[in-house]
Amino acid sequence: MIYDVKKYGSEVLRQKAEEVKEITPEICEILDNMVETMYSTKGVGLAAPQVGISLRMFVCDKGDGVVHKVINPQITFLTDDLKEYEEGCLSVPGIYKKVKRPSLIMVEYQNELGENITTELDDLLAIIMQHEYDHLDGVLFTDKISPMAKRLVSKKLKALKKETLKNDE
Ligand code: CO
Repeated sequence: MIYDVKKYGSEVLRQKAEEVKEITPEICEILDNMVETMYSTKGVGLAAPQVGISLRMFVCDKGDGVVHKVINPQITFLTDDLKEYEEGCLSVPGIYKKVKRPSLIMVEYQNELGENITTELDDLLAIIMQHEYDHLDGVLFTDKISPMAKRLVSKKLKALKKETLKNDE
């Protein structure tokens, strides 16, 4: 099943998501649907709040066909070394801007089998996981762009929000 992706202006995108208490068949089904939704929209990552489900989980695939289903993640290490990537977001269509983030991180999470995973990530996967992790705390990449970039996209964001609020009525 392909979900509707919530767009900029939706309240759920600004909420702090809740821990997944138990990895039930329903949770696994939601994750499968999220993967299907991510591929159908050609995204590299999708967090549960983006489909209106305020739980701490996300899926991602940096483009090599390896799907990561990430439940209750914790970032336990961030390097001081920052790297800049141009980011976009399925919830913020049409806007692509550079964001500086740590280039290497350590993440702990549970997979869909309930196994505890500890992994060190760099490059694109580190960036994607930080972007998706932010969604679980109600943070969007546009919060992290430079003040100048913010000024440049402020009109577009306002228009997006207006559109979203109109569709939600
Ligand atoms: Co996003």
